[in-house]
Amino acid sequence: MLPDADRSRLLEAATLAAAQAYAPYSHFRVGAAVLTEQGTVHAGCNVENASYGLTICAERNALFQMVASAPRPLAVRALLVYTPTLTPTTPCGACRQVLLEFGSRSGVDVLCVCDGLDEIAATLDQLVPLSFGPRSLD
Ligand code: THU
Repeated sequence: MLPDADRSRLLEAATLAAAQAYAPYSHFRVGAAVLTEQGTVHAGCNVENASYGLTICAERNALFQMVASAPRPLAVRALLVYTPTLTPTTPCGACRQVLLEFGSRSGVDVLCVCDGLDEIAATLDQLVPLSFGPRSLD
């Protein structure tokens, strides 16, 4: 369970990021924010491209922002995804795999929040059962 204070910090960062989304093709704005074990928050938005395939999701952008500026060691405690929609959006498969790369050993809480009443709360283990990740190579 994510403490309320952490949830508020993540939601504010993700909401601000969603407003910065570059989504001229889908018009689907996504903001994401990650919380590290050290307590730092890093946000990102989706950035689309005319080639479509080069689009990057908000979740991976948030994770890469973390890589660029967070203190080491990198360990994600929680990820919040915000969409200004009526139903929540869960991270795509590619983003789940990248999140696995940086997940804390004690697990990652994933929270999907929208403007409607629904919300999805899951652990990364639930989102990617029987995963292959960095610890598979130990
Ligand atoms: N998108 C994300 O940023 N995160 C998700 O979890 C799902 C999809 C973006 C990619 C694209 O810019 C738009 O949403 C529509 O797929």
